[in-house]
Amino acid sequence: MWNSDIPDPHYESMRSLYKSMPFVIVHREKVDYGIFFDNHHRTQFDLGKENTGYYSFSADDGNLDYYLISGDSIKDVVSGYTYLTGTTPLPQLWTLGYQQCRWSYENRDELISVAKNMRDNEIPCDVLYCDIDYMDNFKVFTWGEKQYPRHKEMIDLLARNGFKVVTIIDPGVKKEKGYQVYDEGIRNDFFVHNADGSVYENVVWPGDSVFPDFGRRAVRNWWADNLRVMTADGVAGIWNDMNEPASFRGEIPQDIVFCDEERRTTHGEMHNVYGSLMSKATYEGIKRQTGRRPFVITRACYSGAQKYTTGWTGDNQSHWSHLRYSIAQMCSLGLSGMAFIGSDVGGFGSNCTPELLCRWTQLGCFTPLFRNHAAKGTRHQEPWAFDRKTLEICRKYIRLRYRLIPYIYDCFHETESTGLPVFRPLVLEFQKDNNVLEINDQFMVGQWLMVAPVVDQGRVSRDVYLPKGCNWYDFHTGEKFPGGTRILREAPLDTCPIYVREGAVIPMWPVMNYVGEKKVDCLELVVYGGDGEYLHYQDNGVDFAYRDGEYNIYRFVSRRGCLSVEQIKSGYSERYERFKINLSGKLFNVKFTGRKLNAIR
Ligand code: GLC
Repeated sequence: MWNSDIPDPHYESMRSLYKSMPFVIVHREKVDYGIFFDNHHRTQFDLGKENTGYYSFSADDGNLDYYLISGDSIKDVVSGYTYLTGTTPLPQLWTLGYQQCRWSYENRDELISVAKNMRDNEIPCDVLYCDIDYMDNFKVFTWGEKQYPRHKEMIDLLARNGFKVVTIIDPGVKKEKGYQVYDEGIRNDFFVHNADGSVYENVVWPGDSVFPDFGRRAVRNWWADNLRVMTADGVAGIWNDMNEPASFRGEIPQDIVFCDEERRTTHGEMHNVYGSLMSKATYEGIKRQTGRRPFVITRACYSGAQKYTTGWTGDNQSHWSHLRYSIAQMCSLGLSGMAFIGSDVGGFGSNCTPELLCRWTQLGCFTPLFRNHAAKGTRHQEPWAFDRKTLEICRKYIRLRYRLIPYIYDCFHETESTGLPVFRPLVLEFQKDNNVLEINDQFMVGQWLMVAPVVDQGRVSRDVYLPKGCNWYDFHTGEKFPGGTRILREAPLDTCPIYVREGAVIPMWPVMNYVGEKKVDCLELVVYGGDGEYLHYQDNGVDFAYRDGEYNIYRFVSRRGCLSVEQIKSGYSERYERFKINLSGKLFNVKFTGRKLNAIR
């Protein structure tokens, strides 16, 4: 494990990518346990390569600090691991909306035209990104006046139309006398050093650059204060990239001097936590400056970073194999505590095709972070970039995403207390069913929805395994299937197979163009047969008031064809006024006054 920025197309046997989570879960018939090897030097895990009779792990340096986490199930192990390393806090609601990115929307007019296209085409969208070209010569905490004149006015204009702007901030600071960030960092001795005490330099986007020593609190505070340039103008979230740290003139040597707070140490020890520490600085800055739940995205990090940041899987390519791998990657990241995760929808490098974009958007609809992103020089892949049919299919799944936001938000609420991820491998839910152990092309969203996306070019049907232990409903047709069966599902390009576990009560919003466009005083509930119980969470979706009790919890219980609805906690003033209920095909529209609604049938 060594955080690595590898621009080549990723393939399965690559040893390291951007993040290091030295955590392994072992599942055997009678025992589940995890080992968290808390060592952020370069570590190695050998899972039966040297000898199939044992697993081993080792590190280049540092202590043999490891935790053995036992439990009665894989879920217990994941909860134990996140009890130790932290859980993902509730995000702001808008961060669950659709996000559109490109390296880069080169100027103000282009960004505004993307926004206009979204609304003209009625494609819901909450977030637009500014990648590195918005800066003045790639100098962090600046705006290039030529490309983005009057950027605050632009951010306000976009905000009036429901868009939030997220800007990229890399760690490399351009070496340039007279550039305030560089000058301040030099004056305060905030950059990492060579062994002889001089400031270490390497090359990243701005050319010759220096690297903040994020291990030190003073440096993190300084970095956080710099963020005011963004937050004061209304930038809603920060995207931290290149924080392995990446460097174009060879890897940073192991012995470069970095600090762990005031203790002098080496790059070798701090490399794998550099991205986490940068994210922590960013999180704290945004929190202090806005009082809102910070939206931070990182490329590199170490175990525990979930407390501060979301992550994406880095520079994938518009390849079918990468669409498929991303499922396993996101499942693994989820089991390793990173509940807020996504991969570049449509693929970052190389050229996307209409078919690939449709299939990737169908997957993206269910990933916690739903962001379409592409590299410079590649073909555009916004939903309208191809043809009418592609646009319609993307719109259909982006709209479905907005319908499902209350369900996904409930999953996040669960995550904050249990550490269980939103995006889950089947084995997390059905570990007693041996048939699911190797399934990597189906996944669960929370405990009630199972998705079986098409991840192969040209496919218009696919086999789906329905795990044992419950009945399943086809989300599109309502058809019921017994668990423990394999079925062949038609999946023309406009269809992503989705199944709902019996007993589910899925809360849904009306379609809207962005989170907050419509006030949701009527929540839709879709009940899928059988007996079940569901807790639904509601709060202001923005700040930390929920931690002081400002939230509501509703309990929906379905038994023998009847539904009851009850508010079991009230701390947030905006309660639902109505429920629109679809009870296995029968429709009800009921008023809610706060009193329990019994036996709707
Ligand atoms: C890196 C990032 C990518 C970004 C690009 C330019 O390759 O991984 O997402 O677009 O840098 O900033």
